[in-house]
Amino acid sequence: MYLDVALEAAQAAGEVIRASLARPVDVQSKGLRNYVTDVDLEAERVILDVLNRRCPEHDVLTEESPPEARRSRYRWVIDPIDGTLNFTRGHPCFSVSVALTLDDAPLLGVVYDPLRDQCFAARAGQGATCDGVPLHTSGTEAMIEAVIGMDWTRDAASRARNAALIGRLSQSCNVIRSCGSAALALGYVAAGWWDAYWHLSLQPWDAAAGALIVREAGGQVTDLAGQRWELDTAPLLASNGKLHARLCAEIAEVGRSSSDSDPRLGVLEQT
Ligand code: IPD
Ligand code: CA
Ligand code: CA
Repeated sequence: MYLDVALEAAQAAGEVIRASLARPVDVQSKGLRNYVTDVDLEAERVILDVLNRRCPEHDVLTEESPPEARRSRYRWVIDPIDGTLNFTRGHPCFSVSVALTLDDAPLLGVVYDPLRDQCFAARAGQGATCDGVPLHTSGTEAMIEAVIGMDWTRDAASRARNAALIGRLSQSCNVIRSCGSAALALGYVAAGWWDAYWHLSLQPWDAAAGALIVREAGGQVTDLAGQRWELDTAPLLASNGKLHARLCAEIAEVGRSSSDSDPRLGVLEQT
């Protein structure tokens, strides 16, 4: 039942986003390399309308509104547009991310691509799907075959770390891609289109749905040192599982060779 709520909310936001494509959008800066548009706010509003109507007793954490005091063990974690920079440029790569957590563990998640009308979804313990078809992570075992995704943080220090990781991993893998929507990227790993994905500093709303979808598709999600990933863990490494140990080993090598070595390679963004 709650999955229906998530789907209704994500599709309502998708309609707002699609309708906005025909008109000018108001873009505001909310920090270094960080934007919000009137469409993010309108998409968030329609998601909140659905949640307030269908699950008024649940808490909500959503990117564009101040966090609420906790009242419930259930909390919806929402990103109304993940990939706002792409959205402002007309680059057709952004998504709506809706997750329901219980005691901060994702119970279900939906990542909706409004332009393709494509929906990645999962419920804890019940597998993942894309438009109703079961999803499985890739079978890639050889690093030289690996298609790896990553996205950029906003601050200088973590960008230097990302550049070091790219320097190392680009020598061992097939190719490194960046799509600009972390939630969608996690859907790509779940679908086996990509073999792995890393980000040095995600927010809970970027990853809540996508991380569950990867795990339910048979993949692995940890921090960059291979340690447990939870909702408030900023660094994230998702993979098909088969490449995970190798990726962690290469990432650790980069950490060891950098002057200010941090084995987790996770730093909070300074926006
Ligand atoms: C961003 C996207 C991007 C990632 C950034 C996120 P937003 O989300 O997920 O891929 O690199 O760190 O902030 O701001 O477009 O919702
Ligand atoms: Ca986001
Ligand atoms: Ca967003």
